[in-house]
Amino acid sequence: MAGQKKLLRALAGEKQDVPPIWMMRQAGRYLPEYRATRAQAGDFLSLCYNSELAAEVTLQPIRRYGFDAAILFADILLIPQSLGADLWFVTGEGPRLSTITTEADFAKLGPASDIHETLNPIYETVRILSRELPPETTLIGFAGAPWTVATYMIAGRGTPDQGPAHALREENTALFEALLARITEATIDYLSKQIEAGAEVVKIFDSWAGSLKGEAFQKYALEPCRQITAALKERHPGIPVIGFPREAGEKYVGFAKATGVDCVALDNSVDPVWAAANVQVDGCVQGNLASRHMVTGGQELVDDTRRIVEAFRNGPHIFNLGHGITPDANPDNVQLMIDTVRNG
Ligand code: CP3
Repeated sequence: MAGQKKLLRALAGEKQDVPPIWMMRQAGRYLPEYRATRAQAGDFLSLCYNSELAAEVTLQPIRRYGFDAAILFADILLIPQSLGADLWFVTGEGPRLSTITTEADFAKLGPASDIHETLNPIYETVRILSRELPPETTLIGFAGAPWTVATYMIAGRGTPDQGPAHALREENTALFEALLARITEATIDYLSKQIEAGAEVVKIFDSWAGSLKGEAFQKYALEPCRQITAALKERHPGIPVIGFPREAGEKYVGFAKATGVDCVALDNSVDPVWAAANVQVDGCVQGNLASRHMVTGGQELVDDTRRIVEAFRNGPHIFNLGHGITPDANPDNVQLMIDTVRNG
């Protein structure tokens, strides 16, 4: 595997003395250069759909820190928008969408085949990035997992317990499953187009997987991830897939085998020593430093970073946070994390 990019080597199962590193939400509000470009674009969604500026903010953390991977700058909620849902962001609060709770709401959505008209600028961002990234940097594309995307489409906003989505799942299972199937189909096409445009890896974000219990986890977190991965592997053999069933807890065990993903991303509630023995045995893992260290820094950051690198030393590992970096993070702490991973 000599000559291959560091991140791709880890995804192929290679154990490395220094793991590759990138960071969820690495292009974001903690960086002054991000805030400046976002102001230039006007607002967050205009930034997502402006290919030149979206490529620019994707490149900013690569220039500043030399991460081993860049993640496409976009959002998981562009899929609902491309299916015809209204989407807007309320500053300081988060996303708002038109809600889907009845058959009539669902009937207003367009077919999965129509998404590209809206999403073409995203593919253009990927094309720009595949030309402009340094040769050693891997380009990651992404989408939300169907369950997580559905939780926003049903409630029309972020919810602490995904209550409205669970209610629909129980009260109108047929409608809920039809919605999940539509998102799954759109997600396969969306990720496929990202790969055709130059994404070298794709990641499926299931941020709310942890609120699905028992059989519901199998049906609505694991199974859609398996379907998306299988379809992508058939269309694009050799493109690795990272799965992120956040807060899955013990259900991280066996997730890679059951879904076919090449790597499982771990949130920071997972003990790395436990995960090395129970999850990394099946292949590459990614994670899982607590994002709060990017705010607090200091010796605790260094100690926890070393502990994670040490725990995963005997197998393939991609260093990352357990969730996205927050806007109040100090950019110097990101450098301290990187120096600790690379220099010990
Ligand atoms: O990681 C990256 O740097 C790539 C870009 C990316 C964004 N969102 C940019 C973004 C990715 C991969 C996402 C994923 C995403 N978006 C998820 C899954 C991962 C997770 O965090 O659990 C979810 C649930 C969303 C939906 C979403 N987008 C919410 C709930 C919010 C508001 C919360 C917040 O952080 O403000 C967003 C907005 C968003 N997406 C921002 C960024 C940089 C902040 C928007 C801004 O600049 O004002």
